[in-house]
Amino acid sequence: MRLLSGIQPTGLLHLGNYLGAIKNWVKLQNKYDSLFCIVDYHAITVPYDPKKLPKMILDLTLDYLACGIDPKKSIIFVQSDVPEHTELAWILSTVTSLGDLKRMTQFKDKSKQHAENINAGLFNYPILMAADILLYKAQVVPVGQDQLQHLELAREIARKFNKKFGNVFPEPKPILTKAARIMSLNDPRKKMSKSYGEKSYIALSDSPETIWKKLAPAVTDPARVTIKDPGTPEICNLYHLHQLFSPKKQIDQVADACRNAKFGCLDCKKILWENIVKELKPIQEKRKALAANPEKIKKLLQQGAQEAKKIAQKTISEVKEKMGLKY
Ligand code: ADP
Ligand code: TRP
Repeated sequence: MRLLSGIQPTGLLHLGNYLGAIKNWVKLQNKYDSLFCIVDYHAITVPYDPKKLPKMILDLTLDYLACGIDPKKSIIFVQSDVPEHTELAWILSTVTSLGDLKRMTQFKDKSKQHAENINAGLFNYPILMAADILLYKAQVVPVGQDQLQHLELAREIARKFNKKFGNVFPEPKPILTKAARIMSLNDPRKKMSKSYGEKSYIALSDSPETIWKKLAPAVTDPARVTIKDPGTPEICNLYHLHQLFSPKKQIDQVADACRNAKFGCLDCKKILWENIVKELKPIQEKRKALAANPEKIKKLLQQGAQEAKKIAQKTISEVKEKMGLKY
């Protein structure tokens, strides 16, 4: 079974990306024939700085590797190094309905955010994502909850293509983690996202001091105004993070202390802070060591692109054959 996933090189990775996607990839790469892509052609659909993009691509590669994606087990590559992605996207655009694209919530959100630059690429983005997946005939796609609608569309595109031209593509299924939607620290009604500003997220590269600066003012159960007010852990955003970072004994301890007003939110945050710092430390150390040798990283990406291309070219050839494009 083949697996593909990707992240845009648009900034620092945060705990949402890590818990909702990458941490899971690390386990899944042992079970599936895996490809992990740096989707730079997706990143250029919103305003960006061309001078900074090369570094962002390499930075994201370092993050993949530091988190534990292993180039001996998985193919790691940059989307624009394999032009078959955009070739298939054009082909698939001819079986994609305009109505489906108009319904995509990410397009609606991003057009609001970037009202001065609503380009056709942003609108067609889900077709390129479908191409990323179908090009490798991936059956499983581990992503966070926000990507489910795009994946449903990829399945619809595969179905339509298969019906019209004959069976080529399997219908890709999502793999979600129990942390499929990590919420923002300063507004837990929204998902944690790069787009909502630095205070909303903890970046994988944040120092212990920065993490504390973000955790200390983070929104908790509003019922806990003073230390003496009991709270409900289940509705507290930070309790959810405890469940992902803290050992069982401490989770029970903070739940009890919150419910029975035994200590304040800051005490609870302190424990969480220690556990987050502990988990991120080895990732940060590995990243630093890897960053010392950018040439090695570039070489690894070139190798990855070559391997990806072999699979991609086979699919494109089959697609062209079925569509009558071979003369
Ligand atoms: P962002 O919204 O910060 O720009 P991306 O869109 O680059 O994040 O997401 C990359 C991956 O991380 C995707 O698989 C996405 O589903 C996942 N992801 C992003 N934010 C979260 C979150 N808050 N909780 C869980 N998963 C998330
Ligand atoms: N759209 C995804 C996101 O914003 C990124 C992405 C592009 C992707 N192509 C993909 C994810 C293919 C999984 C598979 O996070």
